[in-house]
Amino acid sequence: MTRAMTLMNDQTPMTDAPAAKATPTLPDAQVVTAVKHYTDRLFSFRVTRPASLRFRSGEFVMIGLMGDPDPKTGKQRPLLRAYSIASPSWDEELEFYSIKVQDGPLTSKLQHVQVGDEIILRPKPVGTLVHDALLPGKRLWFFSTGTGFAPFASLLRDPETYELYDQVIVTHTCRDVAELTYGADLIESIKTDELLVELIGEENLAKLVYYPTTTREQSPKMGRITDLLKDGTVFKDLGIEDGLSSETDRAMVCGSMGLNVDIKEILESHGLEEGANSDPKHYVVEKAFVG
Ligand code: A2P
Repeated sequence: MTRAMTLMNDQTPMTDAPAAKATPTLPDAQVVTAVKHYTDRLFSFRVTRPASLRFRSGEFVMIGLMGDPDPKTGKQRPLLRAYSIASPSWDEELEFYSIKVQDGPLTSKLQHVQVGDEIILRPKPVGTLVHDALLPGKRLWFFSTGTGFAPFASLLRDPETYELYDQVIVTHTCRDVAELTYGADLIESIKTDELLVELIGEENLAKLVYYPTTTREQSPKMGRITDLLKDGTVFKDLGIEDGLSSETDRAMVCGSMGLNVDIKEILESHGLEEGANSDPKHYVVEKAFVG
């Protein structure tokens, strides 16, 4: 199905939108301020930020919408899922990057939100992809697939990420080139947006290395990041002679279950150990993420 067709089909349930606006204000409601669709499967949106919400870049919150009324009682319950906050902790709004699952209980509806609509946002940020969960190191790796890029979109816009390391390497593996767009645009904006350049600092930005790969469509770098690590391609491409070591390398991982399991094995084979907020070590994995 083409994107245009999907968008046209998307119009059908959109008649729900005015009705939704007329319903009483949701509990923990925030208002959508921007929506951007990337492909049939991916979109991002921004919402207002509760004045009292403080979070560490890389954390997630529960967000969602009211579910359909129970056919018997007519009662509605919130339908919530864990979403990494994609915006940095200094941003006055909150950004999210989401998959669209056509028969998914939440994202089948969430994909239709428009500016002015309300979503539910429980203001209790948590998560393991935070600097506090890692011991000091020299090189920080962000390994992501699909919408697993989201927490890194937050961390990459946080100056602290660069201040703590000599090099920050972000890898993003997607099926095709279009699915890389959100990440590619983000990296571009970090390097060219006046405000971001000034905030992060040109010296810090020189530490950033972006390594996108695709698996199902031709692009400059093909293959799963796991295979490219195992056969040494990544190290060769980036001029890293000594590979990964627990002395120098720190990693954060966010993606499909398969990626999480496979990267974990690779990192551990190089002597890196998994850390947590309460026990900082060499790498962390976001387990709440469902790609
Ligand atoms: P592949 O096309 O070989 O399955 P998805 O869209 O299904 O969530 O996948 C996003 C990307 O993650 C795809 O490029 C997919 O590659 C890749 N991927 C899936 N499983 C793994 C894994 N175990 N290790 C590395 N990459 C993976």
